[in-house]
Amino acid sequence: MPIYQVLVHASEVLTGSGIRVKDGRRVQEDDLGRIVDGAVVFSTKKAGTRTLPHRVEWVGSSDSIPKKYSKARRKDLRNRQAVIPGLVDCHTHLVFAGDRSDEFAERCGGASYQEIAAKGGGIIKTVRATRDASITELERLAIPRLRESASYGVKTIEIKSGYGLSAESELKCLAVIARLKKRFPELTIYSTFLGAHAFPQDQGREEYLRDLTEVMLPQVARKRLASCCDVFIDEGYYTIQEGQRILEAARELGLAVKVHADELTNTESAELAARMNALSADHLLKISDRGIDALANSPTVAVLLPGTAFYLKAAHAPARKLLNAGAAVAVSTDFNPGTCVCLSLPTVMTIAALYLGMTRSEIFAGVTYNAAKALGLERRKGTLEPGMDADFTILPFARFEEMYYRFAWAPGFMAAPASTSSNA
Ligand code: NIG
Ligand code: FE
Repeated sequence: MPIYQVLVHASEVLTGSGIRVKDGRRVQEDDLGRIVDGAVVFSTKKAGTRTLPHRVEWVGSSDSIPKKYSKARRKDLRNRQAVIPGLVDCHTHLVFAGDRSDEFAERCGGASYQEIAAKGGGIIKTVRATRDASITELERLAIPRLRESASYGVKTIEIKSGYGLSAESELKCLAVIARLKKRFPELTIYSTFLGAHAFPQDQGREEYLRDLTEVMLPQVARKRLASCCDVFIDEGYYTIQEGQRILEAARELGLAVKVHADELTNTESAELAARMNALSADHLLKISDRGIDALANSPTVAVLLPGTAFYLKAAHAPARKLLNAGAAVAVSTDFNPGTCVCLSLPTVMTIAALYLGMTRSEIFAGVTYNAAKALGLERRKGTLEPGMDADFTILPFARFEEMYYRFAWAPGFMAAPASTSSNA
């Protein structure tokens, strides 16, 4: 007999059930499944000495909780806190060593990301520091980052390798992610192999491509070190042909695929992602109308990373065009040491609201169901419905939109009302 627990008197529970029905496309307010004074019943599981939420059992209003749960332990949210599906940050580069604050200063002085990369900075600079760091050191650096991300309500997070750029160092970064999974049983950590993040400076191009496809990918698949393979297709990085070759090799080994697509220049990589039924095409600052059409007519999620455009002072992705065309759109941090040194998914949601013109329901879908779909996890996560994983987020606010209406808030507090009137 499972042990149940109940969250009761949530100011609002947003189940997102209508978003699932629409598979994350053309989402509107009604799809949020709002329950005022809501309750969630969930089963629990043991992880070592800890009891963790397991599956959602029942969701409804606080005055209609079925009698069979009357003995379950209750947490009363006193109509001051909202409950939403656990947030999903579906695109991060969280495992790395070193510091690039000097490059930030250069960019503030007018240098571009590409100019800095051409001088041996950028990804390659982080690669040098990451190669020099031990597994233990990389884990030590990643732990507080993961804690910070979780403090905003993130329950599922994708982490990419990509700062090793050699078989040894890429596998080391993936081993760090494996350690983090063990250390944080309360989080779902999704591991992505991004050996094709840049080309290393100590190997020829073709030689590294062969290493990626013939040495690294087979090991990653055999040791189950990653669920997915990503490629940075862009001018100065991987060509569309090289990207396709790597992703096809990954798919043959049973890995899912995704693409850093059309970020710095248009390379028609969104179209490639759609053609390959990739889980996601990410960035998309330079996506063309044809690319938008391709994504809208494919299962591939458009992952937008507006913190990155903000931090690079670049033009934002054409979010409205993607949304209006019927694409499934997710929003994520892209946390990394160069182009978005920000772990706050709520802050990125504020940027999405202001600069991508995304509505409340689109942002909600973007950090729940669509972000889960970008990881192929939408059958277990992304909505609060019976049978789903019980990784809900209890907000320190009475309403979901306070997460991003308030700007850059500090977690670990219980908010006073942001304003005195209530829209409830
Ligand atoms: O997602 N686009 C490629 N990679 C990262 C940047 C990595 C870095 O500068 O270290 C990104 O923006
Ligand atoms: Fe990225």
